[in-house]
Amino acid sequence: MAAMDKQILATTYPRHLETVRQRYDDALAACGYDAVLIGAGIDRLQFMDDHHAPFRANPQLTQWLPLTAHPGSCLLYRPGQRPVAIVVRPESYWEEPPEAPGAPWADATDIRVVATPDDVPKSFGSLPASTALLGPAEQWDAMKLTGDRNPKPLVNHLHFQRACKTDYEIACMRSATAAAVAGHRAVADAFAAGDSEFGMLLIFQQASGQTATELPYPPIIGAGRHAAVLHYQHRRQQRNPAGSLLIDAGCNTLGYASDITRTHVLRGHDTFAELRDDLDARQQALCARVQPGVAFAELHHAAHEAIAGVLCRHGVLTCNAETAMERGLTNTFFPHGLGHLLGLQVHDVGGWQADAAGQQLEAPAAYPRLRLLRTLEPGFTLTVEPGIYFIDSLLEELRAQAAAADVNWDRVAEFHPYGGIRIEDNLLVTANGNENLTRAAFGS
Ligand code: GLY
Ligand code: MN
Ligand code: MN
Repeated sequence: MAAMDKQILATTYPRHLETVRQRYDDALAACGYDAVLIGAGIDRLQFMDDHHAPFRANPQLTQWLPLTAHPGSCLLYRPGQRPVAIVVRPESYWEEPPEAPGAPWADATDIRVVATPDDVPKSFGSLPASTALLGPAEQWDAMKLTGDRNPKPLVNHLHFQRACKTDYEIACMRSATAAAVAGHRAVADAFAAGDSEFGMLLIFQQASGQTATELPYPPIIGAGRHAAVLHYQHRRQQRNPAGSLLIDAGCNTLGYASDITRTHVLRGHDTFAELRDDLDARQQALCARVQPGVAFAELHHAAHEAIAGVLCRHGVLTCNAETAMERGLTNTFFPHGLGHLLGLQVHDVGGWQADAAGQQLEAPAAYPRLRLLRTLEPGFTLTVEPGIYFIDSLLEELRAQAAAADVNWDRVAEFHPYGGIRIEDNLLVTANGNENLTRAAFGS
């Protein structure tokens, strides 16, 4: 996991913990609980195997302290009292036990280290009568704890509040961005030198210093036609013969993610490079519009308008941008949302909520599957990731419609071998506008 500056941690964490405590105080009071027990989750054996599946800690716990590799651990919080973390640190000569968190986390939380998950309940004694349990059911089953598991009203409260990041969370995300940018830079060079998708995966990990299980999501590294697969999951081992590369890869710092996409084009593929550059310019114009009070669904609509313009300018569509919008032509080339909240999870929670009580926002009829519908507020962190893709199944659907007459199919055939383009940055909404964390780290 990427290292963090100790001074930044020391100055930002105490206030972060105050904010988290305040949010839990409000949420527990609103939902009628006296306490909350938050579980990390437990190790799971693979089917008929003595190896465990990769462990992913419950992000609700990671927000309090970075118990990212400590299955079986828990945190008990009672408003007005110091949090108590019971950290499972098995004594084993098979594996190196994970370290328990030190300063600054241990300064504000009572950290009790136990040797097995069975020791956890003894360590916190009897729970207050009205204790909510947050975490995966298998942990509570293993601990034989009944009670209110993941009560919806409480979860809604916490998810809604999580969109606004503290300075500590922003510092973690800056660090996750810096690590990912180092990986992206190394991959850009490797692509220019003709490396394979598989080779570039290893280079990303080497340069960013993160193992596959530490990364927040498996990197998407698609050359040529593979760039048309939105979440392409394979890694071809042959040296790369394609003119384009789409890499969508982020890193993780103390449980917080970055999520960055770049599309590279080899020299000599100028027509596609111009398409990429135009989308890049439109992406930056969309980023410039990110500020408090903007409804993200409206920005998504603006992205479709911008993409209609790009497709017309580059001769993919023969109609004008207005007609392209009326006929829904951009849906074929940009079939995903403009972005999502980002933080403890890559697709962070709460993007559809109207309020802490859990009322849902209504998606626009034209865009029913957006991950983010909220109006932006200072402190939100989110992605802005427009794309243009040449996806066979969607192109075939379009070819069967009357609107196919507005498409220059020869031009589509020219761009088809390059697969597609996505440009994805991570933004922090500030009081008056935004800070583009990704472009700041790249220096452009
Ligand atoms: N990396 C997945 C996404 O961009 O949403
Ligand atoms: Mn994303
Ligand atoms: Mn991404």
